[in-house]
Amino acid sequence: MALITLNTLKKHRTESTKFSMVTAYDKCFASLAAKAGIDALLVGDSLGMVLQGHSNTLPVTVDDISYHTRCVAAASSNCLIVSDIPFLASATIQDAVNTARALVQAGANVVKIEGGSNLTSLVKLYRDQGVATCCHLGLTPQFVNQFGGYRVQGRTSEAAKRLINAAASLDQAGTDMILLECVPNSVTEEIMRVTTAPVVGIGAGPSVNGQVLVMHDLLGVTCDKSPRFVKNFMSEADSIQEAFELFNQAVKDESFPALEHCFEE
Ligand code: KIV
Repeated sequence: MALITLNTLKKHRTESTKFSMVTAYDKCFASLAAKAGIDALLVGDSLGMVLQGHSNTLPVTVDDISYHTRCVAAASSNCLIVSDIPFLASATIQDAVNTARALVQAGANVVKIEGGSNLTSLVKLYRDQGVATCCHLGLTPQFVNQFGGYRVQGRTSEAAKRLINAAASLDQAGTDMILLECVPNSVTEEIMRVTTAPVVGIGAGPSVNGQVLVMHDLLGVTCDKSPRFVKNFMSEADSIQEAFELFNQAVKDESFPALEHCFEE
């Protein structure tokens, strides 16, 4: 299987084809996802909720993400590995450098940072140091206290404008990828018009280049009510690998996300 790199995802963007991404936190699940044809693995700080049992992602540390990145990298898969920069782990230049060093040395190909247009200087700093970035925009779970909960973002025209302008400025600053979470389809469509980097979505509609789901949601391993954008692929599969295959196939034939997984204004 050919190695998936950022160039592969960029080709998806230029050729308007789709790629798939799931979260992964260890070697076995990473191997199964890779065998199923998944393109990218996200070592997300969602691990704070699905593995550690916290009510949000804020307690997750750089050591946690480094440890799970090493576990995922141990699968030696052909997948691109994207690892999350945890809450406040890039607040100063020194922290940003130390965190990226830890994650890249643990096996990350790309680091994911949550925020908005405030990320421009961080994207440039990382770019100058050879660190590839994915900017996570929209519903950024590390901002849960400011948002007052997990809510769809970009619903008012001012909020939509802010999101679209942030995506455009981060694209111009040279971010290698954008991850858009929980925004109305129309906002995503506008973001696709003003950016050139590959865009992966979760609850961001069908117009993005890639789709990502938290592995536990995709496999139906959930304790609470699932968000609207989730589909349980395990309910149609006989094995975990087959559930990953069904997700991969549904992303690529564009049957996922369906209307019922999307947000309108
Ligand atoms: O941490 C994570 O798993 C994420 C996904 C929800 C996209 O950021």
